[in-house]
Amino acid sequence: MAQSPESALSGSIDSYQVEDRKFAPSPEFTASARLTDPSIYTDGEDYENFWATQARDLITWFEDFHTTLEWDLPNARWFVGGKLNVAYNCLDRHVEAGIGDRVAIYFEGEPGDTRTITYAELLDDVKRFTRVLINLGVETGDRVCIYMPMIPEAAVAMLACARLGAPHTLVFGGFSPDSLIDRINDAEAVVAITADAGYRKGKPSGLKTNIDVALADCPTIRNVVVVNRCDTDVEMTEGRDLWWHDLMADADADADAVPVDSEHLLYLLYTSGTTAKPKGVMHTTGGYLTQVAWTHREVFDLKPESDIYWCSADIGWVTGHSYIVYGPLTNGASVVMYEGTPDTPRESERNGDDPAGWAKDRMWDIIERYKVTQLYTAPTAIRAFMKWGEAEPAKHDLSSLRLLGSVGEPINPEAWMWYHRNIGAERCPIVDTWWQTETGGIMITPLPGITETKPGSACRAIPGVFVEVVDDEGNEVTEGGGYLTITKPFPAMLRGVWKAPERFFDTYWSRYPGRYFAGDGARLDEDGYLWLMGRVDDVMNISGHRISTTEVESALVDHDAVAEAAVVGAADPLTGQAIYGYVILRGGNEPSEELIEEIRRHVATKLGAIARPKQVVAVTDLPKTRSGKIMRRLLRDMAEGRELGDTTTLADAGVMSQISGSSA
Ligand code: PRX
Repeated sequence: MAQSPESALSGSIDSYQVEDRKFAPSPEFTASARLTDPSIYTDGEDYENFWATQARDLITWFEDFHTTLEWDLPNARWFVGGKLNVAYNCLDRHVEAGIGDRVAIYFEGEPGDTRTITYAELLDDVKRFTRVLINLGVETGDRVCIYMPMIPEAAVAMLACARLGAPHTLVFGGFSPDSLIDRINDAEAVVAITADAGYRKGKPSGLKTNIDVALADCPTIRNVVVVNRCDTDVEMTEGRDLWWHDLMADADADADAVPVDSEHLLYLLYTSGTTAKPKGVMHTTGGYLTQVAWTHREVFDLKPESDIYWCSADIGWVTGHSYIVYGPLTNGASVVMYEGTPDTPRESERNGDDPAGWAKDRMWDIIERYKVTQLYTAPTAIRAFMKWGEAEPAKHDLSSLRLLGSVGEPINPEAWMWYHRNIGAERCPIVDTWWQTETGGIMITPLPGITETKPGSACRAIPGVFVEVVDDEGNEVTEGGGYLTITKPFPAMLRGVWKAPERFFDTYWSRYPGRYFAGDGARLDEDGYLWLMGRVDDVMNISGHRISTTEVESALVDHDAVAEAAVVGAADPLTGQAIYGYVILRGGNEPSEELIEEIRRHVATKLGAIARPKQVVAVTDLPKTRSGKIMRRLLRDMAEGRELGDTTTLADAGVMSQISGSSA
């Protein structure tokens, strides 16, 4: 159940007003910008016509669609009757058009190894791997699980699935075996693709071992394809596990792209909701590709012949799907793909073996060497860069950059200004892009050659997308705070929750009839600019990653010593929010440091390291309303060091003083 925006946003609204300046696109930028005429927003008002025009402009259809949109809330069908193939659009047609020699991927491994892959080479690999999948008995419509580091083979695997029309489901490499089990079983995936390990902070971080643990409980997987990335020792189960390089050596690069229906399932991506079970968000083919290609081209002002575009997200998140792989490759862009973390220098540049002594300029080193023109990253990363100091970017020539992007969480004006000054040299427009796994593509953002930006505001909906802020009752708010809703269907919107149509309706469409409820609070200022204010439901945003409080609570009570748990996301200067867990221990357990540490570790093992609570506090009671609902607001007030808000609905008025006593 959502709280009122004011209580849910816990005082953060004020900090969004500190920078009251507007930044107009510079004359240098607009001189060559793709879009400079605001009439594009007027074009977007006839949204079916607008998107149909974009779909025909951006995509090669094997068969044209006959109907732009069929809409029977909550079910949308876009570009009905159209047939296409995503991999064909990302690869074949570029090679056929004579740009096969253009670089598709500049890969840089964490140790500093590099690979440059042209469109022609990528097509060859994808055709070959499609043949591998066919040889393994994968058919159009079968699901394939991809659990990989940030290496080009991950993109090859995704594109090969798309070529065959076999929906993929990527599981972020930082997730645990338990997360793999849930996702593989829900998707009933038949093949898993992984690597022995990927490099992380100077060391191989194992993936195959997690797959091995998971597969004991995943009866649908027949085969595992393993890329040898780090040359670590892995166990290969006879008859089930196969090396990528062996299969590729034996396969012909001859698999054609399968024409699929515009509404054919392209992928499932699991994301945290307000329950313990992640939802399989369904994205289909034609509408998704149209919106990600359009937004990638226009929001990043793409000049595919000359730009070197870098999105630093992981391919396992939706940002990687839409803005490393599908959007950029549809547009014929050259993308940088980097395997590791921003605080790991190339092996040759490391000062000893202790990461504490390493420089923190890897991002800027990459931008300088590849002459990156657009950088798309997350506020949590920007805040880490701020902490590491201006001297790190100042070591490098960043003059190739011409545009900066931000995604994943609200960007605080301080971080925006730092990014603008220290990375963008006060020259590059910043596009703060709001969207979600469910929306598939960017929804709210400035258009860089048109919009005057305000630091911290994502500005307004793109042409062809309609949002409104509403109050508790669903009445439109024209100025002030409320809930963000989307009022009309848009091409890349999720088509459902896998195997859970009721959950789809209940989660997104039931709260405000006729509208999609995004789960975010938003404020409209006097100029009609949107200020996103974070989640208003029980979803936390940790370093731009979604984790539900319930998910962490169930991982906590899964520990033998824990009887009951409540989790809140409290404001954190670096990660946006941080996880605070309050646990009631079972009788016979003492709240020792070791036990608390073990409980935190247990959550990391169950869910993955990003879900490890920053703090776990043992308490004797939890604040509950008389109807038994945990009052998270009070716990959040406490975690954030605020004076406690209204406690009058507490069943036991003394409980908060007891808790603050135990957390002191
Ligand atoms: O709360 C919003 C926040 O991230 C949520 C979506 O998370 P996820 O599905 O993991 O997708 C992240 C990448 C698209 C949203 O509900 N969010 C995302 N971008 C922004 C944002 N909050 C404020 N400003 C943004 N630019």
